[in-house]
Amino acid sequence: MQSSHEESGTSGSDVLVIGGGIIGLVTAWRAAQRGLRTAVADPDPGGGAARVAAGMLAAVTELHHGEQLLLGLNLASAERWPGFAAELEAASGQNTGYRACGTLAVALDADDRAQLRELHTLQRRSGLTSEWLTGRECRRLEPMLAPGVRGGLRVDCDHQTDPRRLAAALLTACERAGVVFHRAWADRLTVVRDRATGAVLSDGRAPAADQVVLAAGSLSGRLAGVPDAVLPPVRPVKGQVLRLTVPRAYAPFLSRTVRAVVRGSQVYLVPRENGELVVGATSEELGWDTTVTAGGVYELLRDAHELVPGITELPLTETRAGLRPGTPDNAPLLGPTALPGLHLATGHHRNGVLLTPVTGDVMAAVLTTGELPEEARPFTPARFAPAASVRQEQPA
Ligand code: GLY
Repeated sequence: MQSSHEESGTSGSDVLVIGGGIIGLVTAWRAAQRGLRTAVADPDPGGGAARVAAGMLAAVTELHHGEQLLLGLNLASAERWPGFAAELEAASGQNTGYRACGTLAVALDADDRAQLRELHTLQRRSGLTSEWLTGRECRRLEPMLAPGVRGGLRVDCDHQTDPRRLAAALLTACERAGVVFHRAWADRLTVVRDRATGAVLSDGRAPAADQVVLAAGSLSGRLAGVPDAVLPPVRPVKGQVLRLTVPRAYAPFLSRTVRAVVRGSQVYLVPRENGELVVGATSEELGWDTTVTAGGVYELLRDAHELVPGITELPLTETRAGLRPGTPDNAPLLGPTALPGLHLATGHHRNGVLLTPVTGDVMAAVLTTGELPEEARPFTPARFAPAASVRQEQPA
């Protein structure tokens, strides 16, 4: 089939990905591996939320009521992580920081324990494996835990990666696979005769493409030129995150991710092999604000200190805030929109790092075959299309 660029005589690519965060990069890498001429538009590829995220691969510990469909996709991606990391490391020659270390979710008081018991029940009902431990058993696993820990859930299949390393490795793998980078913002989607045909960039260039993938994280709902009916319902959800350093003399400080719900707020501590300890994260509906606040830092340190009192000895090396791309059902938007030529790979909310492997596979499949793979069908953007919601509201 002759492409529209050949027809019009303009040079372009088969695929233009708008957004060079980890989701945009994995989409571009997988598309290029399938032989598609692929370009990415982003002023700072490899940046964005990946610079802030802790990188937990927490399909089981972050299970929530009403998210069974998302659980299926999360588990599918978690299963792919070891092979994905190995393939990406071979393709890029770089370490992704993938670490099969497991997770311990603990409770500090009776309310926390009741909530954790509830999560345990939900996990078992969902066919997931986790083990209930007493406070003493938790401390035997992680001696730095506070003496007041009342119990916990050991989840040996929830691991971690380092999103900064992941982004750097994806960037190199993309470059090696021939992906072209336009280091500029996409200002506007180009639409010609009711079809997406590329984008106009902030530097005045206007790369053309047969297919456009909008993968701009929390910014995805703001791209000019996207018709209202297909504009993704993505909103920014702020997360403040701290980075501390464990001096060699204190190692091993924690051997796995430790997390808890303290007074209703999630707190997690993610220990890296290189001594970095990531403490996250607030969850704030404050629009585009990315200020690191004294209150946010205070709450994270206070809650983390209740879990692991020894953290007050560690150097605090970095504070940052990022924006998760939230959607109305907390699940991503994957695949074609009602505008021919425009696809979405966005809205990954709390699960962007976890869902990176499956998103790459799904997007490469849809870009090469036109068909959304079975596992991704529940996440079609059509579920939020105005016509679909009107249909759902009508009585049978
Ligand atoms: N998945 C962890 C977070 O979004 O904070």
